[in-house]
Formats: sequence, C-alpha cells, structure tokens
Amino acid sequence: MLWTLYLLLAHPSYLPTIQHEIDTLDARPQLISNIDLSTHLPTLEAAISETLRLQPPVPIEILENISSQPVVLSNSDGTVIVQAGEQVLWSPWVMARLPYFWGENAEEFKPERWLTMEKRPTAFEHPVFNAGPRSCLGQPLARIELIYALAEVLRRYEFEPAWSGKRAVGMGLTASMVGGLPVRVKRRRTSKMYGNA
Ligand code: HEM
Repeated sequence: MLWTLYLLLAHPSYLPTIQHEIDTLDARPQLISNIDLSTHLPTLEAAISETLRLQPPVPIEILENISSQPVVLSNSDGTVIVQAGEQVLWSPWVMARLPYFWGENAEEFKPERWLTMEKRPTAFEHPVFNAGPRSCLGQPLARIELIYALAEVLRRYEFEPAWSGKRAVGMGLTASMVGGLPVRVKRRRTSKMYGNA
C-alpha cells in the first residue's frame, strides 16, 4: 500500500482517473462486493499490479534441494541440474526489469500496461506471489485488501509528497521503505461512497 501511494504521488497524472473511478462508485454502492471491486476500479487495480511488479514485497526468493538426489529443472533455454544441497535464487525484482519480457519501458511505472496487455503474465513469468505448489495462499485476500483499503484512503484524503528524491528500499525479507513515506494529508470534500463513512 505504501509503495503504491508513493508511486502514485510520484506519478500524479493517474490520481484524477483513480479518484474519479472511486467517486463514481457512488451510484451503485450496495451492488458491488469487495471481490468485484477491481473491475470497477481498473486504474487503481492496474496501479497496484504495477507497484507489485516494480516493488515486489518479496524481492528475492530462494529454494534449496533438500533431497539426496539431483533435481532437474528445464526451461526453454535448456536444462539446469540442481545438485543435492544446492540452492536456487531468483528475484521478482530483477525479473520485472527485463526489457525482453516487459519492453523497453520495463523500469518505468506504467499502470496502463496492465489495461492494454492481451494476456497477464503467468505466475512463473512474474512470481511476485511465488509460483507452483508453494504459491502464496493469501494472494486473493492481499489483492482485495489492497484495493479496498487504498480506495477508502484515496476517497477520504488527498496526499502531497513531503519527501525529496527517491525513497529507498530497506534490506530484509520483505521490501520495507526506509523512513516510511512523509506526506501532507488533507481531507477531501467528496466523501459519499460505498461502505461506512
Ligand atoms: C502483497 C501481499 C503478499 C505477497 C507479495 C506475498 C508473497 C508471498 C510469497 C512470495 C510466498 C512464497 C514464499 C516462499 O515460499 O518462499 C508467499 C507464501 C505464503 N503466503 Fe503470501 N504474500 C502476500 C500476502 C499474503 C497474505 C495476506 C496471506 C494470508 C492471509 C498470505 C499467506 C501466505 C501463505 C500461507 C504462504 C505459504 C504458502 C505455502 O508455502 O504453501 N500471503 N507469499
């Protein structure tokens, strides 16, 4: 949520569209279940997906072959043998920046790529929530929480950056933001919408 807010404030041209999507939910508040919110807030959903891409909360993943036998991994580039006791590391952070997959603008914050792509990447191509049998069990809940909470916050408040330069990622298991996100907050005038006020 923090990184989404940061990237939106750093690219404020998306905010009016997102706020418009949120404000126009007014017309049909009780008809939208939380689970369907993303289809009604496409730009917010795209901004969240783009943030998960550029700022994956788990930036590096690791697996170890704990069996006594080699494990064979194959992909289109060839075959990799992981010997017993060996570890394999991969980085969703780095994978999100590969131009051959995401295009020349791979490093840029472009939520619209999620609105225009024909097919979303598979979990193996974009393993923010891991892929395969040990994928994140909380992904659907995490996505609903992100949309719901950000929609509520952006409906009620306006934010102005109170930082300069870029925010740094803290070292750790998950990608925290060093020093948090200093912002100035103002209550928005429009505040009709779904849910409790
Ligand atoms: C944006 C939010 C989240 C991200 C990016 C995320 C990412 C991940 C990743 C990468 C893994 C694999 C870790 C590994 O095996 O090395 C994982 C596993 C898991 N996550 Fe999440 N997660 C998120 C939110 C949640 C939430 C909200 C829940 C629960 C409500 C959850 C529950 C789990 C569980 C139970 C596993 C272990 C699955 C298994 O090993 O079988 N996650 N998550």
